[in-house]
Amino acid sequence: MAENRKYEIDPVTGSPIHPYSWDGIGELETPPPRWWVLTYAVCFLFAVGWWVAYPAWPYIAGYTKGVLGFSTRADVAEQIAAAKAAQAPMNDKLAALDYAAIAADPELMHFATAGGKALFGENCAQCHGSGAAGNVGYPNLLDDDWVWGGDYATLQTTIEHGVRSTVDADSRQSQMPAFGKDAMLTREQVDDVGAYVLTLSGTAPADAAAADRGKAVFADNCVACHGDTGAGLRELGGPNLTDGIWLYSGDPKAVAAQIWNPRHGVMPAWAGRLDPLAIKKLVLYVHDLGGGE
Ligand code: HEC
Ligand code: HEC
Repeated sequence: MAENRKYEIDPVTGSPIHPYSWDGIGELETPPPRWWVLTYAVCFLFAVGWWVAYPAWPYIAGYTKGVLGFSTRADVAEQIAAAKAAQAPMNDKLAALDYAAIAADPELMHFATAGGKALFGENCAQCHGSGAAGNVGYPNLLDDDWVWGGDYATLQTTIEHGVRSTVDADSRQSQMPAFGKDAMLTREQVDDVGAYVLTLSGTAPADAAAADRGKAVFADNCVACHGDTGAGLRELGGPNLTDGIWLYSGDPKAVAAQIWNPRHGVMPAWAGRLDPLAIKKLVLYVHDLGGGE
């Protein structure tokens, strides 16, 4: 119960005591200190000044811009323009020189591969992996095993026009036939030639007789694209089957599945999406990863 009291002055603090007390506990009516009130007022005025000067209050279709015209966006645009201007001499040099001349200039090469690395992260890493080590169906670009080739000009063509791109008329094309699905070979023949293919990279076949039978099937159906020895034919994009490096998988079931109904991996064409200088940086970057020819 609240009990009525008059304002009394607390002898210790000199502050008035609130006329009510709760459960016998009184409350002092100490006013806030002057320094605190002043700080509060200064902060309030500062905030009002800020609202007027700088972008502050949002409304439905925008925000108050502030009389100083400050914008972080304009700041960033300015910084980007400055960075571009700083890079311009290097970029001009890159555009003018051919690959061999760039490769001979360590400073230029460093600039190009740094740019290529950033471009690779943005455009290529989702398929080839951020370190370019590839994935099932997406070739490793770090090694020296190339489906199409690893010299500058070949890399440039692959990147510009892609592989089996449906939007680029100059895209690399090569379609391994669906030997099983389209009934060009029987199930037994597919399994036989699969067993033979595995021996090419040194895997002992589970069924040696099957691998023996597969040899003839290979000679009749596969050498046109994979070469007489199975070492691949780059003009036709037929991968090397003798090196134990697989675009898909060296698992016997996966090999048989590829022969039965091959996947036709698509590498997008980049000519329309990236400018020639960006493609040049990518070529230099990929070439420099270790497998360049
Ligand atoms: C949508 C997935 C995808 C993206 C994105 C992609 N690639 Fe590819 N890339 C592939 C596939 C699939 C192949 C294999 C094509 C084949 O079967 O021959 C390939 C092949 C390549 C090859 C040929 C390798 C060889 O052995 O000859 C190069 C070089 C290459 N890509 C570079 C790049 C670069 C550089 C980028 C980024 C600008 C990129 N790729 C982006 C899917 C992709
Ligand atoms: C018309 C050309 C062509 C013919 C003929 C052909 N291939 Fe292929 N083969 C390819 C291409 C191109 C690829 C790569 C597929 C891709 O990039 O998606 C491939 C991939 C493969 C692979 C997967 C290699 C890997 O690294 O994962 C195997 C295995 C294979 N072929 C076996 C055969 C066998 C066995 C035959 C014969 C029965 C055959 N191929 C006939 C073009 C051909």
